[in-house]
Amino acid sequence: MSVIVHENKAIQQELANGLLADRAHTSPKYFYDAVGSVLFEAICVLPEYYPTRTEASIMSEHLADIAHAIGPGGTLIDLGAGNCAKAARLFPQLHPDQYVPIDISVVHLRGSVRRLQQRFPHIEMTALGIDFSQDWCLPSEVRADRRLFFYPGSSIGNFEPEMALAFLKQLRALCGEDGGILIGIDLIKDHAVLHAAYDDGLGVTAAFNLNVLRHTNQQLDTDFDVQQWQHRAFFNAEQSRIEMHLEARQDLTIHWPGEHRRFIRGERIHTENSYKYSLESFISLLHTAGFGQSRHWTDDAEWFAMVYAKAL
Ligand code: AVJ
Repeated sequence: MSVIVHENKAIQQELANGLLADRAHTSPKYFYDAVGSVLFEAICVLPEYYPTRTEASIMSEHLADIAHAIGPGGTLIDLGAGNCAKAARLFPQLHPDQYVPIDISVVHLRGSVRRLQQRFPHIEMTALGIDFSQDWCLPSEVRADRRLFFYPGSSIGNFEPEMALAFLKQLRALCGEDGGILIGIDLIKDHAVLHAAYDDGLGVTAAFNLNVLRHTNQQLDTDFDVQQWQHRAFFNAEQSRIEMHLEARQDLTIHWPGEHRRFIRGERIHTENSYKYSLESFISLLHTAGFGQSRHWTDDAEWFAMVYAKAL
């Protein structure tokens, strides 16, 4: 028996629209159900998936310098905080007055925040549940002075370039003249390295991608059989992005209440874009968004960068 969530019409409508589109697609936010979130954590420790460990090594090697550039105090706003571990590593050097972890699910945040609050009793902590793919704003509990937006993990890679610019402009408007942004950016590199990171030998990324079909079955009551689909990932150099797709292994039809969609063998569902930037192109994007002076830190191979930009 399948359990259907009837309350969430908006989710069902978004999934149905994507499946019925000429080129079928789903939003990357549907990767992250309970299984998908665990699979993503597994991806982050795979040898092929360099972004997480490269970012962590940049952060640990340059922590004092990064904290010095930002300056102590202020409000640290963590976009896509998850288990809050990345931000927590900044606390001993940055000493924020307020910490605002934001994630799509505030339920998941609460446990992490409770534990963190015990380790750092002097930092005021305010957890928020916000979906950045929708219109959003900050409630009045978030202090207005010296806001630092922390956006690690190269999550901005999921945005189309125009949407990335709009998002950065919004952060610039919200951070005020005394604020800034500290953001992790995955850089353009050897295509084989990029490809391996999104098509690992163990097949964890394949499982992560295919899991969107299980999640869709739960949300929309579709009848996807994951065995009939194949993980595809490749670097689209023209658009400077990794694309992930699910490809039908045979002709098949997907049914859900009141609708169906036929797929022919080889037809794909586009599940994710992960844009890669050059340092120059990303810094110029920050300037276009209205940010001022910037600094950046990279690893020796220049595979990943942390960029700090002040509002002015
Ligand atoms: C969470 C969007 C940064 O694009 O690398 C990892 C997601 N997809 N493997 C990325 C992801 C496949 C990840 N981000």
